[in-house]
Formats: sequence, C-alpha cells, structure tokens
Amino acid sequence: MAKLDPSQIGKLLTVGEVAARSGVAVSAIHFYEAKGLIESQRNQGNQRRYHRDVLRRVAVIKVAQRIGISLASIHDALVKLPDGRTPNAADWAELSHGWKAELDERIATLTQLRDQLSGCIGCGCLSLELCKLRNPLDALSEQGAGPRLLE
Ligand code: FES
Repeated sequence: MAKLDPSQIGKLLTVGEVAARSGVAVSAIHFYEAKGLIESQRNQGNQRRYHRDVLRRVAVIKVAQRIGISLASIHDALVKLPDGRTPNAADWAELSHGWKAELDERIATLTQLRDQLSGCIGCGCLSLELCKLRNPLDALSEQGAGPRLLE
C-alpha cells in the first residue's frame, strides 16, 4: 500500500466507488488487494484510495477468473508487466492469447472426460479395469498383465 500523493486527492476512488463502477463486491476488492492484484494508497484519514486504472485491472481480473484462470496465475501475469502497470491493449492481447491456449487445453480435457462419462452413465461398476474415469491412463496395465491390485 503506497503513500498518497497530495496531487492525486480528488482523482482517486474510494473502495465503494471502485466496487460500484466495476460491479465487484467491496469484499472482493479487499481480497484482490490482499492477494497483491491491485494496490491502494492511504489518505490522511488512513482510508484506502484507488487510482482510476484499478477499474481496468479489476476488469482483467474478472475476465480471467471467469475463464477459470487462478488468482495466482493472474498475479504472476500482472507482476510481469513493466513497472507493475495496468494492462494496456497490447498487454491484454498477449495475456488473453496465453489464457486462450490454456482454456483450449482445459476444454479438450473436459470434452474427453465428458465422453468417458457417457460410457459410465447407467453402469455404476467404477471398475479399475474397465472404467476409464476410474483408471484414465490404464495405469495398472503398465505394471503388467493380471490382477495387479491383488498381488
Ligand atoms: S462406471 Fe462402469 S465404466 Fe465407468
């Protein structure tokens, strides 16, 4: 949390204003700050104040969360930006490109799981030998033929 620059007084937002303008709960704003995703400054009354660019930062965080990116990954991406700046259009293009690849990979995995689940519907065996969801890579077969779990 940085010290407030007096020239910024009046240009900064309260946590309530950030919440209202970003559509995010005050508790979430505090949470993002605790996780190092956003920063505030303290005024003379020791109240938090936020630069307006925090709104763009919160928008980036919300979109990333919506597509399933972890807060830790979002944090890692944001701290790599020069001078800890808020992502500009070029930064966003790069971030979203990377996150799209991650999302594509997750969709492929989920699609495969859904297809495997289709074979389980109405079955209920949950067999280590037969059920692909129970033994997805058929890991037991790598140990050799026969009832591996009984040996
Ligand atoms: S539950 Fe029987 S194959 Fe998955």
